[in-house]
Amino acid sequence: MKTKIGIKEADRAAVAEALSKLLADESVLYTKTRNAHWNVEGPDFHSVHIYFEELYNQQAELVDEVAERIRQLGHYAPASLKSFLELTHLTELSAKGNTSLGFIAELVQDHDSIIEFIRGNITDFSEKYNDEGTADFVTGLMEKHEKIAWMLRSHLK
Ligand SMILES: [Fe+2]
Repeated sequence: MKTKIGIKEADRAAVAEALSKLLADESVLYTKTRNAHWNVEGPDFHSVHIYFEELYNQQAELVDEVAERIRQLGHYAPASLKSFLELTHLTELSAKGNTSLGFIAELVQDHDSIIEFIRGNITDFSEKYNDEGTADFVTGLMEKHEKIAWMLRSHLK
């Protein structure tokens, strides 16, 4: 049955397209966080190994929320690794070695980048596309990323 929630079809499509890019970013960041969990080395191994696990579990929930928001708008979520790589703004490359601080610096950049992308879309979601629900959803999502970024950044002082 057709999605009839008071948002024009073209506007729902535009929002779903932006959310698909966000889903790709969230998914790439999920994998990068697992990389940190698996491959980190150093005297602080035990604590950061556990910390990165907490982070990727949290990240998995964010991935799920974005995909399900796309479905609520009547669109299908991209769900292949190939499509994620085509859509993402993030890079998989990391040249910062296997230390905890190297991984943390990389993850902070990615969270910051997602925060900026979301912030740049909130007004369009509400005012251009008349989708207050998505504007509200991504505002909450942005705040979660801001909290994670703060915690990651606190390791780098
Ligand atoms: Fe593990």
